[in-house]
Order: sequence, then structure tokens, then C-alpha cells
Amino acid sequence: MQDPAPPENPFASILVDLPAPAHVPRDRVVDITWATGFRPNDLTDPYEPCGWLSGPDIPRILFNPPTGGGVAGGGKGSWVVTHYADIDRVYTDNEHFSNKGAAGFQALIGETFRSIPLGVDPPEHSKYRHFLFPHFGAAQINRMEPQIRALAVEMIESFADKGEVDVAWDFGRVFPVRVFMTLMGFPPEMFEQFLDWEWDILHASDRAKTGAALSAVLVFLRGFIAEKESHPDDHLVSKIVHGQIEGRGLTDEEKIGIVWFLWLGGLDTVAATISQMFRRLVMEPGIQSRLRDHPELINSAVEEFLRTQPILSSARIATRDFEWHGVTIKAGDSVQCLNSAGNFDPEKFACPREFDPARKNNRHFTFIAGIHLCLGATLARRELRVVLDEWFKRIPEFTVRPGADTTVFPGLLSIRNLPLVWQGKERS
Ligand code: HEM
Repeated sequence: MQDPAPPENPFASILVDLPAPAHVPRDRVVDITWATGFRPNDLTDPYEPCGWLSGPDIPRILFNPPTGGGVAGGGKGSWVVTHYADIDRVYTDNEHFSNKGAAGFQALIGETFRSIPLGVDPPEHSKYRHFLFPHFGAAQINRMEPQIRALAVEMIESFADKGEVDVAWDFGRVFPVRVFMTLMGFPPEMFEQFLDWEWDILHASDRAKTGAALSAVLVFLRGFIAEKESHPDDHLVSKIVHGQIEGRGLTDEEKIGIVWFLWLGGLDTVAATISQMFRRLVMEPGIQSRLRDHPELINSAVEEFLRTQPILSSARIATRDFEWHGVTIKAGDSVQCLNSAGNFDPEKFACPREFDPARKNNRHFTFIAGIHLCLGATLARRELRVVLDEWFKRIPEFTVRPGADTTVFPGLLSIRNLPLVWQGKERS
């Protein structure tokens, strides 16, 4: 009898001979563009292909060459870390890793202001974080919760009897953006325009389109800031414009840097997470029935949805030359943290591929770690909890509409349409 074939080693099969800087050893060069969220799949667990990158056989540091779409480091390529402990180091070791200039899309059109607070390093970063924190801390989110809940109820009740909804387009895309616009004080009629601009900035492959959207949004935001300067209100943009940092008013660069970055970070992150959450609930109906029977698990289940669907991976720039895991990292090199691997590291998470709604000590990287930990995390978590809570009270067992396309980008691009159906009063 023949021996069974050895298991295929996917790592060996994707080692490539692609260009890389001279200080990068050839055996670390791997094209992992596929793991950066730009290639859709139809798996129940869409991030599953990234998981083996945190396995014990994988070198602790790899190099993703400049192959195009989704690679950090611009035209130079990027080091990539995939194990929990290494990702944690990059996020927390501010001596060796900098975030200066992060999310600097505005430079494409010649703007020189910084994205605040994401593109600012310590010690300067903390003054902005202190300034903004009161608007995003638990006390403020508790005050906002009745409004968030009322909106969720109103939206869910508008389609509950119909027995169907496109949960990605008509709910996931709309609900968090309405919450965000209310928080900031933006006019509700800008809703579709904001989403169009954001799509062109984050996802369009055409630079001219990205540039046009950037110019348009910055004209709008500067006009809006000017309007709040003369007509203050109780919303966040007005509070930023009239706020004080270390006893002085904000400069124009600081005002636009903060308002712009909140605009960018707050619009479609929760939307993508909601869509992927509902996709998982229909692809793995056991989770749905468990949460329906045990609503007390909703809070920990939200953490598990976040762990298993890390829509973003972040990169940092090395501040100096140093040795790490047998290679020389040079000052100016980009180092990308693949959260979609780190969140499934078997050294950190027991049975990492299993969706366990009761998982304890779920310290995932979906909101990263360290000083740049997502400022909107408390708001995002609250929105997700409220949605599940109110949804299960009003919507019976649901499935995806037969024949619907369920392919998903394991990242921010996510899923544009996801039609769900259930036994509603108006549906026979
Ligand atoms: C599920 C939803 C969300 C996810 C997965 C998410 C993810 C992230 C990640 C990964 C970062 C770090 C980026 C980096 O280090 O390069 C970040 C930072 C940030 N996020 Fe979020 N985010 C979400 C929702 C929000 C919302 C709703 C807001 C605002 C309303 C927001 C505001 C921010 C801000 C201001 C930062 C920068 C924090 C700092 O530099 O100190 N996020 N977010």
C-alpha cells in the first residue's frame, strides 16, 4: 500500500522570486497580497486562509514585495508579521515603530496637514487623545445609547413584517453612518454623498477619482468647520472647533486634521463589520440559535465577531536599523501587522478557528493595541451589541435568500449586498 501524500505546505508553494530591497533575505519574500483583504471568497470563515500564517512553521517575519494592490510600504514593499506576540510588539514599541504620516491620503492632492490622532507619534499624540477621549469614552457612549437604540429599533421595525431586507445595503451601510453623522452634527442629507466620496478615497483604483473625492470632501469639511465657528451647536465638530488643547484654541491645521480623520475612520468600519456579522449568522446558523436562546452571550459574541472578522490590518514605519528574527530592519522600512493572522494565533487563542460566543479574555487586534487603539471602539462595540439585541427581539430565524451571492472580501471592502429572508407577517 502506498504512503499517503504529505500534506501540501501552502507556504512553500507561494515563495516567489519577486523584487525586494537588497537587505531582505530571499527566503522571506512571499507574495501575500491575497491576505490583505482584496481577494473575495465564499468561505463561512472568510479569514481562514490567513490563519496558517501564524502557524508554528511560518517564519516570524516575512516580506511582501511591491506587487500592487493592498501592499503596505507603497512602491517599496513591506515586512509582514503574523504572530500575536510580534504584532503586539509593533503596536506597543513606539521607539522602533512610528505612525507618523499614517492615513495621509490628503498628500495626494498636495495637502500638508496631518491626520490626527492616527498620524501623530508620542509624546505629542497624547494631548490629542486626551482632548478627544471625553467624546468617545464609556460615559459619553452611555449618554448616546438611548438614541442609538431608538434608531436601531426604528430601522429594524421598518422591515420586520416584510420578512426580508438587504442587510448589507439597507441596514449595515446606513445605521452606523446615521449614528456617526448625528454624533458629529453633519447634515443628514449628505449621507449618500459622504459614502460616495469615501468609496472613491478608500477603494477606487483610479487616482483621478480619488483626488476629486479628496478635494470635494475637504472643501465640504472646511466649509462646515467655518460654519460651526460662527454658529456653534452641541455636536462634536462644533466642540472640536471651539475646544482647547493645553490652554489654547486649535490651529486650522489641527481642526481639519481631526475632523477629516474622524470622518474617514467613522464612516464604513462598523458598516463592514455588521454585514460580515450577519453573513456569519446565516452561514453558521448554530450561532444564531445560540444567541437567540442566550441573549446574555451577546456582549462576548460581539468580541468574537470582532476577533474573527478583523477588517483592517495596520502598518508602521521603522524608526532605526535593528535586528529582529534574523533579519535587519532598516530605518524607513514598512512593517505590516496582519491582524487576520494574529487574531487566530494558536499560541494565544484556544481552538482559534472555532467561533465561541462565550470566549473569555478575548484580547484580539481588530481595534489594534497600544496608544493608537481605536478611539471609536466603545462606540462600535455598543452599536454592534444594540443591533443584535434589538434584532433578535424582532426578527425570527433568518436565512440568506436562496441563490444570493455570498462572496465577501475579508476586509473593509466586505460585502455590498446580503439579502436575508424570514417568516414576516407580510410574507407568506
Ligand atoms: C468595527 C469598527 C471599527 C474598527 C474595526 C476600527 C479599527 C481601527 C483600527 C485598526 C485603528 C488603528 C489604525 C492604525 O493603527 O493604523 C483605528 C484607529 C482609530 N479609529 Fe477606529 N475602527 C472602528 C470604528 C471606529 C469609529 C466608529 C470611529 C469614530 C467614530 C473610529 C475612530 C478611530 C480613531 C480616531 C482612531 C485613531 C486613534 C489614535 O490614533 O489614537 N473608529 N480604528
